[in-house]
Amino acid sequence: MQTVTSTRMSRVLKLPKHTPPGTPPEASLSSGLTARRASGGVMINRRLDLLRCSMSDVDDDVLDQLSIRWTRTRRGRPDPRVHIPTVKLNNGVEMPVLGFGTWLGFNDKMQLDMPTCDKMVDALEYAIDIGYRHIDTAHLYRVEPEIGDVIEKKIKEGVVKREELFITTKVWQHYHREKDVEVSLRHSLRRMKLDYVDQLLIHWPFSHNQQGVDEKIDYLETWRGFEAVLRAGLAKSIGVSNFTIPQLKRLIAFSKVVPATHQIEVNLNLAQRELVDYCKAQGIVVVAYAPFGCMVPSKDYPDSPEPKINNPQMVALARKHNKTVTQIVLRHLYERDLVSVPKTITKSRVLENASIFDFKLDAEDTKVLESFNNGYRSNPVLWYMNFDHYPFEKVKLDKLPEIPSGLLKWKNGKNQNID
Ligand SMILES: NC(=O)c1ccc[n+]([C@@H]2O[C@H](COP(=O)([O-])OP(=O)(O)OC[C@H]3O[C@@H](n4cnc5c(N)ncnc54)[C@H](OP(=O)(O)O)[C@@H]3O)[C@@H](O)[C@H]2O)c1
Repeated sequence: MQTVTSTRMSRVLKLPKHTPPGTPPEASLSSGLTARRASGGVMINRRLDLLRCSMSDVDDDVLDQLSIRWTRTRRGRPDPRVHIPTVKLNNGVEMPVLGFGTWLGFNDKMQLDMPTCDKMVDALEYAIDIGYRHIDTAHLYRVEPEIGDVIEKKIKEGVVKREELFITTKVWQHYHREKDVEVSLRHSLRRMKLDYVDQLLIHWPFSHNQQGVDEKIDYLETWRGFEAVLRAGLAKSIGVSNFTIPQLKRLIAFSKVVPATHQIEVNLNLAQRELVDYCKAQGIVVVAYAPFGCMVPSKDYPDSPEPKINNPQMVALARKHNKTVTQIVLRHLYERDLVSVPKTITKSRVLENASIFDFKLDAEDTKVLESFNNGYRSNPVLWYMNFDHYPFEKVKLDKLPEIPSGLLKWKNGKNQNID
């Protein structure tokens, strides 16, 4: 057991280092900017100066400046479209290797950051316009109604056909009984106005009711519900999230269907080599969530380690490839054969995050990137530590934090009024 210090506890409450409670996100961003400016990094500073402009819409001038590196490599104005490769899952379904994450995050009161929902909608519309086809959501995220509206609009506009999209949603721990899986999925489908999802995941391997009581439902039972919705065609593929190797082994040993994917936290601090290798050996595609770990200002938790976005070694790699630090990170995940689902509500970053398929890292670069692996987890969900099937290493705490109420009961949609 590790001992948790008081600074580590504040990570449980997810308070960014530089942000006093109640500070609006813009203020937190500009304090991050100042810190980074002090560090040098001409290209990064240039990009950050640009990001200070209002990004309510991406205007051509800003795009031109942001894309100076593409202008150089492609000789001409950047084509505002991205071409995201796909990977074939173990059941033949093709999944784009980069998706649009839609968890809006908790604010300092541990409530979902719904005020940013409108920006997410604009960013998602833009993402589909420029070529994103993979959307990662969950019942928990509350935004299925808005995602459904965007999909409907983009299909009506002729931008995309339903069959070209890859939509993932997840079943929360309230719905882990075999018969409840279909209930949860049908609610998600209703909220998104869809007939099927491309992928359905068990969000976590443990279960609890709306009062936060551990229901101790075996994930093998939950998985039988998943196999049933797969057979019924309501989900084209099924997978899990936040499982351990022993849990996966048991699932595979006692089930008919091997998960198509496993969605886990992977970033520079948390390489998860053993788990990734195990999944690869079983033909399970690994999807990396929180790909930036604690690198970005919104997750600058008090005890979080390097590299931050202004880390000199990372800035040097970015300069070497004429890319940004975050692009280097996403490229590294791609070169590890991982799918990633970065979340951004900032249009310029939507384009930036998917513009990683035109360069390669070399062995020296990879060595630097691997040197940051220290097992630090940005999302330890310590309030679940005493639950059956808690998947992470246990730590010693004086007092277990309470499960945030936002994980127990909610309505959906930006006005939080949709069942
Ligand atoms: N299965 C699970 O248990 C689980 C858990 C967590 C997350 N997820 C999924 O994974 C997705 C991604 O994880 P996450 O949202 O926790 O973390 P993340 O994508 O690593 O980080 C999101 C943060 O990075 C910022 N950002 C994005 N692109 C950037 C760029 N190019 N430059 C600088 N900053 C950038 C975003 O800012 P702005 O938005 O302000 O631009 C936001 O503050 C989620 O949205 C969700 O779909 C799944």
